[in-house]
Amino acid sequence: MEGNMVNLEGFVPMRSDLRGWQSDSPIFDRLVSEVKPTEVIEVGSWKGASAIHMAKACRALGLKTAIHCVDTWLGAVEFRTMGGGERDLMERFGYPQVYYQFLSNVVNEGVADMIDPLPVTSLDGAKLLGKADLIYIDASHDLKSVTEDIEAYMPLLRDGGVMFGDDYGNSVFQVREAVDGWCARNGVTPEIYDGWFWVIRR
Ligand SMILES: C[S@@+](CC[C@H](N)C(=O)[O-])C[C@H]1O[C@@H](n2cnc3c(N)ncnc32)[C@H](O)[C@@H]1O
Repeated sequence: MEGNMVNLEGFVPMRSDLRGWQSDSPIFDRLVSEVKPTEVIEVGSWKGASAIHMAKACRALGLKTAIHCVDTWLGAVEFRTMGGGERDLMERFGYPQVYYQFLSNVVNEGVADMIDPLPVTSLDGAKLLGKADLIYIDASHDLKSVTEDIEAYMPLLRDGGVMFGDDYGNSVFQVREAVDGWCARNGVTPEIYDGWFWVIRR
C-alpha cells in the first residue's frame, strides 16, 4: 500500500507529550512479533503513543512497515463531555490542534519515515486504504461506531492478519457489546488480553 509520509520541510516540532491510554501494553509487541506486518492500520491515533509503540516494535524486528494512522484529530464525544486534562484537544481559536502534537511526537521519536497520517473519518479511511496485516481499532467507543469500524475494516484484513482494539473491559463505553455482537453474528470468538484488549484473528 502506498503510504503518504508527510513532507516535514519547515515543520518545527513542539515538546513531546506522549500521553495515551494503555498504549504501552505488551500486546502491541506480542502481535507485531507474531504477525510481522508490512502494513498496519491504526483507527484512532490521538497523540501517536500506540502508533509510535508499534513503529518501534516493527523497527526492532528489522521490518519495513508502514503504519497508516486514521484520525480526524477532532476527538470523540467523551473528549468534550469528559474533556480537559489528558483529553485536551489543544483548541486554538475554537479548533483542535492536537494533530500537531501527534506529528511532533512522531518526529521527536524518530519514526516519521514509518507513519502515514490520514486525517479523515474512520469510515472514509476504510474506503481509502488497502489491505493490512494488523489493524488496531481505537477511535470512538460507542456501540454504533465500534460496530461500524469493525465492519468497515474487517474486509481490509489480510488472511493470517489480526484485528484488535482496547477498552473491552471499560464499562463506561460499549466496546464489549460491539465486539461480542459482531463476533456472535459472524461465528467468531474474540480473545481477550489482560481483560482489556480484544483480538480477532483471520
Ligand atoms: C482513544 S483516542 C486514540 C488513542 C491512541 N490509540 C493511543 O493509544 O494513544 C481516540 C482517537 O480517535 C479519534 N476518533 C474518534 N472518532 C473518530 C472517527 N469517527 N473517525 C476518525 N477518528 C476518530 C479521535 O480524534 C481520537 O484521536
